Amino acid sequence: MSTTTLLTPIPLTDAELKLLQTLVYQECGMFFDERRIHFLRDRVQRRLKACQIDSFYGYYRLLTSREGKSELIALLENLTVNETSFFRAKPQLELFQKTILEEILQRKQARRDWSLRVWSAGCSTGQEPYSLAMLICDALAYYYLRNPLPIEMPSPKPMVPPPWKVEVLASDMSYSGLVTAQQGLYNEAHMEPVDYTCRLRYFDRLAEKYVVKPALKSLVQFDFHNLKADFLPRRNDIIFCRNVMIYFDEPEQKRLIEKFYHCLNPEGYLFVGHAESLFGLSNKFRMVHLNNATTYQRIEVAG
Ligand SMILES: C[S@@+](CC[C@H](N)C(=O)[O-])C[C@H]1O[C@@H](n2cnc3c(N)ncnc32)[C@H](O)[C@@H]1O
Repeated sequence: MSTTTLLTPIPLTDAELKLLQTLVYQECGMFFDERRIHFLRDRVQRRLKACQIDSFYGYYRLLTSREGKSELIALLENLTVNETSFFRAKPQLELFQKTILEEILQRKQARRDWSLRVWSAGCSTGQEPYSLAMLICDALAYYYLRNPLPIEMPSPKPMVPPPWKVEVLASDMSYSGLVTAQQGLYNEAHMEPVDYTCRLRYFDRLAEKYVVKPALKSLVQFDFHNLKADFLPRRNDIIFCRNVMIYFDEPEQKRLIEKFYHCLNPEGYLFVGHAESLFGLSNKFRMVHLNNATTYQRIEVAG
């Protein structure tokens, strides 16, 4: 390795980029087409510099070796877009809270099934799963303001009324995102979409920041899952996978939607991002569109 070459970017040929494009696609489903290939080139240059490697093939050998697993993870992390926020896409979350949750709570209560499991797939730094947990707690509180609780409410009032068991599974393939999410510590800029009643109910103040209250945090379980994997968490009532599939190509989107179908309980719902849709990708879901928001419900096949 020479130090002079480390100062200038190592030129990558089209063939070398193609090799990386294929490797990244195989590992995580992200597809860098013509429009985004410059981003892949830029991020690989950065990793080469960080690893102080001055040949593409040296780097490629590392990525595909057993010892190179952590570098492969670092490269993939550098390629992902982590943009997120609390209560992102409000009309969709309103549809989730006011219509879908209400329907699921009624349906489950009727058969005395007190479990609710919602999965945030591609949770980034945690704002999405914590938003979902807050919306669920509020929805349950409001539901039992109008309906009798099946057992007596303990004192002090817990966030989730018994006998309900709420689980929000939050997964990502970015370890750094998961660490931040697990900490649940957010600054004023992050908190901008969170109104003061929510801040009071679900956050504590810590110096200049806000930290998620332990009772809310205990409802969220963080885990590493690469959505490219064949086996993904099952028995979910609702899956949120928003702003993740846009980075996949069509065959990979179709495969993922098929996996989500099997990861949902009967009549479960899939929420995708505002700019995403299941149109032309699956005929196993029916579209529910209400008040400018969309979700997809699993269609049950007879027999
Ligand atoms: C733009 S963020 C979306 C965060 C959140 N869902 C939202 O809509 O605000 C995309 C996230 O998807 C994750 N991601 C991308 N490909 C993935 C994969 N194959 N498996 C798991 N997570 C993935 C990224 O690490 C990133 O945190």
